[in-house]
Amino acid sequence: MTLTADQFEFLRHLLDQQIGMSLEADQQLFVTHRLLPVARRHGWNDLDSLLAQLRDPRDNRLVQEVSEALVTHETSFFRDAHYYDELSDHVLPRLIARRTPERRLTIWCAACSTGQEAYSVAMLLRERFAEQLRGWNIELLATDLSSRALEQARAGQYSDVEVRRGISDCRLTQHFHREPNGWRIDDHVKQMVRFQQANLIGGWPQLPLQDLVLLRNVLIYMSPSTRQSIITRIQKLLHPEGCLMLGSTETSNLPDRNKVCIQGNSPISHRSTAH
Ligand SMILES: C[S@@+](CC[C@H](N)C(=O)[O-])C[C@H]1O[C@@H](n2cnc3c(N)ncnc32)[C@H](O)[C@@H]1O
Repeated sequence: MTLTADQFEFLRHLLDQQIGMSLEADQQLFVTHRLLPVARRHGWNDLDSLLAQLRDPRDNRLVQEVSEALVTHETSFFRDAHYYDELSDHVLPRLIARRTPERRLTIWCAACSTGQEAYSVAMLLRERFAEQLRGWNIELLATDLSSRALEQARAGQYSDVEVRRGISDCRLTQHFHREPNGWRIDDHVKQMVRFQQANLIGGWPQLPLQDLVLLRNVLIYMSPSTRQSIITRIQKLLHPEGCLMLGSTETSNLPDRNKVCIQGNSPISHRSTAH
């Protein structure tokens, strides 16, 4: 079962417009594989009816369902450990020193998937900076397009496999408790993070200037022009000395000084961002 060239072109355009996803010409099979279960949930045996219904501009829910089926939620706790070392040893101490007069820190995890990234930052803040940040206003917002991913993030429930990917025994004892089907993150970490649905290609929540934005492993799925416009929007939202962290594949073409953290006031050519 394959999509016609016209159907595939329609989908490419739709996804680019709606969520900034850039489908490659050779992803037909991947798309078919991901969309068949969506079609079947609606009682359709093939993709023709699904594609026809998608052309109805009023059916936003189906567009959302299709988008959720096609995006990749791959994530893990403390993913790419060297980022967290950099956060812990350099970025956070610098930001905390600068924000000491206001005693306020604003952090946005802008494509948080099922929550592991935001909770990793929250754990780090508690473990390394609890004393310094006592009495501070810490605003840690985590957003994602996917309502299903956010449901798990808000529940803070993870399987054995998910916690084993990045959580040490020590952290497991410190921040999680056992549940029949796996582990749940403790309230002292959960309460530090606020989850909200937001599409990077749409209106964003009203946000104050941000000290730190994590936008990791999502731009790789987007076209160069979409990446450029999102990074430009985020840089406007950063404190001049704030920091934007991209994923390692998203910075491989950038100069060394921008590899881990792009500062709010640092001029870079985003066009060179790797695809
Ligand atoms: C591969 S995960 C990355 C998760 C996490 N940042 C990390 O690095 O582990 C990509 C996430 O981006 C989300 N996403 C994709 N397009 C989006 C968009 N237009 N707006 C908001 N989130 C989006 C997906 O739902 C998915 O959860």
